[in-house]
Amino acid sequence: MSSKNETLISSLPYPVVVGTELENELAILVQQRDARRVVMLCDRRVQQHACRFAVALPNKTVVLSFALGEKRKHLRTVETVLDALAEQGADRDTLLIGVGGGVAGDLFGFAAATYMRGVPFINIATSVVAMVDAAIGGKTGVDLTAGKNLAGAFRDPVAVFAAIDTLETLPLAQLREGLGEVVKHAVIEGDEAFARLEELASLPLRAWPWQEIVAESMRIKAMIVNDDRLEAGQRELLNLGHTFAHGLEYASDYRLSHGAAVAIGLRAAGLLALRCGRFSEEEHLRLLALLALLQLPLFDEQVHVERVLEGMAADKKARAGTLRFVLPRAIGDVEYGVTASARLVRGVIEQVTRPPSSRELR
Ligand SMILES: NC(=O)c1ccc[n+]([C@@H]2O[C@H](COP(=O)([O-])OP(=O)(O)OC[C@H]3O[C@@H](n4cnc5c(N)ncnc54)[C@H](O)[C@@H]3O)[C@@H](O)[C@H]2O)c1
Ligand SMILES: [Zn+2]
Repeated sequence: MSSKNETLISSLPYPVVVGTELENELAILVQQRDARRVVMLCDRRVQQHACRFAVALPNKTVVLSFALGEKRKHLRTVETVLDALAEQGADRDTLLIGVGGGVAGDLFGFAAATYMRGVPFINIATSVVAMVDAAIGGKTGVDLTAGKNLAGAFRDPVAVFAAIDTLETLPLAQLREGLGEVVKHAVIEGDEAFARLEELASLPLRAWPWQEIVAESMRIKAMIVNDDRLEAGQRELLNLGHTFAHGLEYASDYRLSHGAAVAIGLRAAGLLALRCGRFSEEEHLRLLALLALLQLPLFDEQVHVERVLEGMAADKKARAGTLRFVLPRAIGDVEYGVTASARLVRGVIEQVTRPPSSRELR
């Protein structure tokens, strides 16, 4: 099922298709599964894309749309989705297809993992964050009052589609912020991936070769995930910048998007590594320069340091009360499980509530 419109990521046990006009590919896959019923769940903002996919399917498909967003990524929305499925008479032979960004993928994926103890789920990702990160890896879930993604389940989808043409309607701010995750993957991967982003940084975002960039970033994540499906070790690398990011998101009451928080979190991880003597000034500067060229946020003045720390402590990566960090040693050389003193961590958070000083930019 491959044409020049598509790239297949082959390192995972389920198909991951990146491309445009993927309606036919989806229809073929649905037909192969011989599902008795198909229910499509979508974020209301991408309903037109969901309908385009639904009409191309062999089965008559109900499209149920929901108002989502990070502030609605909680158990009450999951209950609304589960009730809607029950009302439709969905059963164990029903195939669910979720369409939307990372919130949709996490929340619908979690609903699919719990409805009747689990029904098959296809994820159609429509945002950069969803494509390069949330849709692959089998992590589903929702936020609790105490912090992000605290209730969830590991569950692989049946297939993932990164529908690149849907990015045309993704607001520019979200398109840009999604690059936070793309930069994260490039820092993990190494010089070639990082240099490609440096090269593209001067192009207007709408002119970027998104299929290439998304596919490369997905490939990096897929490889790491496949080596460590249950997050026992090396998959932690993917949390680069994320302990800070989750604290920042929490402290901003989710005003900061995940991608924006990840960009600030990458600066924070660079700073902490620098202060621990694990990262060079040149490498930190290179990271900072790319984030700045991509016009990603580097700081947030409105968050309170105490609340960021509170959000970080609730983050599930805190083990036995000690915060563990994923820190860069160089572009392409990232280590996990690093502990740092509370004083250093607090200092870094204070620093990312302000723009970089001329000393940091030196
Ligand atoms: N499960 C994981 O491994 C994982 C990894 C990374 C992020 N996440 C989660 O993903 C979420 C962030 O994802 P996100 O940034 O996609 O957020 P999101 O799903 O809220 O999407 C961002 C905004 O863009 C809109 N949107 C999405 N696609 C669109 C399109 N094609 N056209 C128009 N509008 C569109 C959405 O309605 C929303 O307003 C967070 O909750 C984060 O925790 C999960
Ligand atoms: Zn992320």
